[in-house]
Amino acid sequence: MDARTNSLPRYVLTLTELAQITGEPAARLRKRISDDGLIDMGGRGFGVRPEAVRAELSRRGVSYDFGILAHINLKGGVGKTTSTITIATRAAQYGFRTCVLDLDSQASASMAFDSLPEEDEPIFYDIWAKPADMLPGSLKKIDDHLWLLPSSLENGLLDASLTNPKHQKRAVRGVCEQLKHEGFDLVLIDCPPSLGTAVISSICAANVIVIPVAGDPFSFKGLDLTLGEIEAICETYSLPHPIVKVLFSRYDRREKLAAQTIEKLAGPYANYAVPVHIRVTTEFSKSLARGETVFAHARKSSAREDYDALVRHLLGIDR
Ligand SMILES: Nc1ncnc2c1ncn2[C@@H]1O[C@H](COP(=O)(O)OP(=O)(O)OP(=O)(O)O)[C@@H](O)[C@H]1O
Ligand SMILES: [Mg+2]
Repeated sequence: MDARTNSLPRYVLTLTELAQITGEPAARLRKRISDDGLIDMGGRGFGVRPEAVRAELSRRGVSYDFGILAHINLKGGVGKTTSTITIATRAAQYGFRTCVLDLDSQASASMAFDSLPEEDEPIFYDIWAKPADMLPGSLKKIDDHLWLLPSSLENGLLDASLTNPKHQKRAVRGVCEQLKHEGFDLVLIDCPPSLGTAVISSICAANVIVIPVAGDPFSFKGLDLTLGEIEAICETYSLPHPIVKVLFSRYDRREKLAAQTIEKLAGPYANYAVPVHIRVTTEFSKSLARGETVFAHARKSSAREDYDALVRHLLGIDR
């Protein structure tokens, strides 16, 4: 890899992909997009910088209105972090100024982006009470249009320190409002698998809640508990209901449980079910081992295909 390639952003849409999405010939797009918006990928065609993608998609009516999307399931290991980081990188490619808010004290999202905070660097626990002063200096740049508020074990102390219900209601929302003020369009929250302060405060802030289910009975138990909590919290705090989306995050058509899961999603959970399932593939763990998501390369895979369809569904990007 030469030095020039090294300095390129990792998450860019290719000109070919943009042409497919917009239905406009690549040659015509190339003429309209300024040289600054294009990246010569040396024999692999052109990449389009997120800001130029944004200009093109805005022309076609894609809205970049501010949104807060939280991944919650009280059951662990269902794909919350995978979904958060994968959606984040694709959203950035689509031109959304995206910030990942890592609220899990296990810090899986921060680790996935190889961006754990240093000892003296602030995390949510340190900044929620004064986001205007502390947030800007606390964010880590991951890539063009992609930033992170990292997490560490100290976020586990939130349950002991953020006990006032009024503060719980405001804490995540306050940070997100500051992110909006800083120019972000999209906040993606990765929550821990427990009903603690971080989850309660995220439910109060989010306008969309994605609940991933892996297909096993335990993730449905977690789904029911999570739906119950959303209901109870909205009632307690007199909040409007967020949009809830249930995502089948590990679909393996060879498994008997998969058919039962699809049935449930088409039956009792039909109001919430996302019309896209994420198929099981080793692509996720392979990408993670490289410190990136499946959108770092344009190689075809079910992982890319499924998450791209999900992102377009969530962000209103039609083909
Ligand atoms: N579609 C998939 N195919 C294969 N593996 C997957 C898929 N989705 C997620 N995984 C893997 O499942 C594991 C758990 O996923 P992840 O860490 O995203 O879950 P989580 O809900 O965030 O867990 P926790 O509750 O512990 O934070 C990871 O190793 C991830 O790579
Ligand atoms: Mg996680």
